[in-house]
Amino acid sequence: DIVGACFTLVREITLTHTYLYMYTYTHHSFFYRNTSLCACDKCLMEYDPWLSELMEASPEPFLSVTNYMSEDIFNWWKRIQRDKRNYTFYNKTVDKIFHIFPPNVGFTRPSPDLCRTCAVVGNSGNLMGSFYGPLIDFHDIVIRMNRGPTKGFERDVGTKTTHHVMYPHSSTNLDNTTYLVLFPFKTYDLEWLIQSFTQRYVLCKVNTSVMILSPAFMKYVHHVWLKRKGKYPSTGFMTLILSLHMCDEVSVFGFGADRNRNWNHYYEKLKVKRLRTGHHAGNEEYKLIEELYKKEKILFFRGW
Ligand code: C5P
Repeated sequence: DIVGACFTLVREITLTHTYLYMYTYTHHSFFYRNTSLCACDKCLMEYDPWLSELMEASPEPFLSVTNYMSEDIFNWWKRIQRDKRNYTFYNKTVDKIFHIFPPNVGFTRPSPDLCRTCAVVGNSGNLMGSFYGPLIDFHDIVIRMNRGPTKGFERDVGTKTTHHVMYPHSSTNLDNTTYLVLFPFKTYDLEWLIQSFTQRYVLCKVNTSVMILSPAFMKYVHHVWLKRKGKYPSTGFMTLILSLHMCDEVSVFGFGADRNRNWNHYYEKLKVKRLRTGHHAGNEEYKLIEELYKKEKILFFRGW
């Protein structure tokens, strides 16, 4: 009997061991999914129920030959603009763009061997006197936006710009090492891109390093992140959410209104005393940035 009992015990142990081995093997990706996402100490995309759910709802961020906009999204997009041109016209314009501009993916996909560090630089007046320049330049990717200049403000905002987000109304000339990240708010903005490349006398000359944000991504940020607050998200907030796709570590600079809740700029004296945040849900956006910071998904440099 003792021999029989010993035999059963050994068999139980062996079976348990086999099951444990099989479980570990089949759940390999579960055990290791947090360690192989990127080469930074901490990867932004490490599993977190809150952020992972928000990120999983995201469409492909950029327009491409394989990522056109659906009519449904077009109808949402029309509501934030006055451009009367229809869906067919829009599609013809996009066709022209993809004939002119090569498929130029200005960012690398995540890899266990890469640590993609990014600085997202908004235009807030809180950058004034911040001395953040060298810290900003220390990142691999530096994303600036709209009229945000570096010349004359190097000490506080740095010198490097790998990506510059803009739309025609906020456009500035870029040098050859910077990607233009176009945020199209209407069909005309896409026509502007064609003209700026093909015509000789234009205010802003564009080269072929262009990435175009998909309006589906704008809708996603508005509906999923902002729960439809405001008319549509601000350029800065969309850029920040976009950076979560392009980077493994994100440092945020230049976001935050002044004490009168105006969106003042580091590069100019506030002319309109009651500028506020216009169509955008400035408070909601700020709360979400703070949430991302509290949950240690981003670093947030407030300038104070
Ligand atoms: O004013 P502008 O749109 O050029 O600024 C870029 C972005 O920086 C804004 O869309 C907003 O998200 C952010 N910003 C801010 N606080 C300010 C000024 C701008 O958060 N005082």
